[in-house]
Amino acid sequence: MPIGPSPFIKWAGGKSQLLNVLIKCAPQTFGTYYEPFLGGGALFFKLYSMGRIRRAILSDANKDLMNCYVAIRDNTEALLTELELLQEHASEKEFYYEVARPKFNKIRLRTGLDGDVAKAALLLYLNKTCYNGLYRVNSDGEFNVPWGRYENPRIYDEGNIRKVSKALSDSRITLRCCGYDLAVAAAKENDFVYLDPPYQPVSATSWFTQYTPSSFTEEDQRKLAETFKTLDKRGCKLLLSNSYNPLIDDLYKEYIDRGNILKTLAARQISCKGDGRGRIYEYVIYNYPLY
Ligand SMILES: C[S@@+](CC[C@H](N)C(=O)[O-])C[C@H]1O[C@@H](n2cnc3c(N)ncnc32)[C@H](O)[C@@H]1O
Repeated sequence: MPIGPSPFIKWAGGKSQLLNVLIKCAPQTFGTYYEPFLGGGALFFKLYSMGRIRRAILSDANKDLMNCYVAIRDNTEALLTELELLQEHASEKEFYYEVARPKFNKIRLRTGLDGDVAKAALLLYLNKTCYNGLYRVNSDGEFNVPWGRYENPRIYDEGNIRKVSKALSDSRITLRCCGYDLAVAAAKENDFVYLDPPYQPVSATSWFTQYTPSSFTEEDQRKLAETFKTLDKRGCKLLLSNSYNPLIDDLYKEYIDRGNILKTLAARQISCKGDGRGRIYEYVIYNYPLY
């Protein structure tokens, strides 16, 4: 069987490790697929490759990320040309600090979701050459992740970019840049909504929530749980991943008490220090019968 499109960007909280569990938990049939915390889109690409997506609404609040999806869809050839040029500098520390990062920061503050090729190519360059593929901006909105010291990293895979472009050009797939609440406002009975919010931090220094200039707070987790319950009443099929945490335990208690939960161990970046990788428990919570 030919290999389908797969994530083209490394994203904190990326779901490649949990993919088998998520696929096992995904409903057999559903209407429109919603993924409002898209990130690298691991579950979308997997379900799409399996031919299980009829229609999809893919969105994320991060403008730089969604610009990249749009650029891949609409400006594939120009983007590939730009990436080929950047690839030549993939091992150069000076290029990272003196050219790529400042240029990206200059462009990012004046562009939006219009498929800007230079910004998309620089995001992919930074993503594959920075420390751990992190995306983090300071209070002035500047990307400030340090160089990652990789030897000759590959910043793109042309074949995969073309497959992603083809998949996203499918008229049944919609891209949006907005908050999750707006993204799922029109979700109906039998639609499948996969919610993968920034994880509730396991410690005060954790980096889990720093994807957008404003982080995902405890209050946001509470509001998300309300949205989950509203969509549940509407008859949507819901699947949510999060870290094992007392707050999440409390917010989704009624589903956990019903046994609608799977717990798994995953390796994650858990703090900003170099030694901050560890294994943490992750939850997968759902509101429909599994088998
Ligand atoms: C855990 S990551 C998603 C990872 C993704 N499932 C993957 O496989 O790569 C969470 C995402 O939520 C986005 N995000 C943060 N706050 C948001 C909000 N209020 N509405 C929508 N997206 C948000 C972040 O930009 C980030 O991409």
